Amino acid sequence: MTYPLQDCASLLPIPKGGLDSMTLMDLPGSTFIHLLSLDKGAAYGPIAFPEPSQIIPLAPGFAVSGGGPLSALTAHEPILIPGQKAFTLEATAPGHVLLLRFRGLAAAEEEGCSFRCSETAAAGPTGPVTHPLLQRWMAEHEAALACLARLEEALAATPWDGQAVAREAAWLGGEVKAHNEAEEQHLFPLLDPHFGDHSPVSCMRDEHRELWHLVLQLQEGLRQEDVTTIVKAGTQAIGILRNHIAKENNVLYPMAERMLSPEDLDRLSRAFQEA
Ligand SMILES: [Fe+2]
Ligand SMILES: [Fe+2]
Repeated sequence: MTYPLQDCASLLPIPKGGLDSMTLMDLPGSTFIHLLSLDKGAAYGPIAFPEPSQIIPLAPGFAVSGGGPLSALTAHEPILIPGQKAFTLEATAPGHVLLLRFRGLAAAEEEGCSFRCSETAAAGPTGPVTHPLLQRWMAEHEAALACLARLEEALAATPWDGQAVAREAAWLGGEVKAHNEAEEQHLFPLLDPHFGDHSPVSCMRDEHRELWHLVLQLQEGLRQEDVTTIVKAGTQAIGILRNHIAKENNVLYPMAERMLSPEDLDRLSRAFQEA
């Protein structure tokens, strides 16, 4: 029989200015479940477990880092930490986290990206990007942000502006899709060898798919004149793409310039000249 965990705070109150923890289950050779309670500013780690583990934030306000920038976590969205991988969990608001360790068990299938590049990371300093192709793509990002602002305005208008929404949806499905495909063709394969399974590059690829899915939904909503779908898909697409662009501008592109070899940067330059 299972019981929902209704109120973690009654099980484990949030300590002022610190961290407390409680083991909920510890079966030898099997799963280990731990409840962590962190006050704002408290950190758990750096720590590495021999086995894969999962972190499940029970509220917003947590971020994780694996040696790089902090990545914001989404409430109730588990992330997988590979075995042997050191990580630090930080609370930006008071709350509870479940920690699962898969002792002797196969880890749960990972969905999405474990180490998300986050809004926290995206809010970091913008790196000086000098490569001509990256600069061109950053200019395309500016055009995409302008498209999103127009789409947002059209969705919020009363009555809502169907023609304007259709125009911006077509732009997302054309210009932005081509931009994303160019990144996947010319840049991402050069970055892949620098990362393992849980890479910010696969995170970017996933977001391209997610955005594309939402744009198709938006276009289908327009065909069906289904305002609920249009507003929902449009609003989600705006959020995802704005965040995606911030991460690329502030994290991925500057990182690419630092990481790539002169030969790989030359490859990018050839792609720029041929485009
Ligand atoms: Fe991009
Ligand atoms: Fe992208």
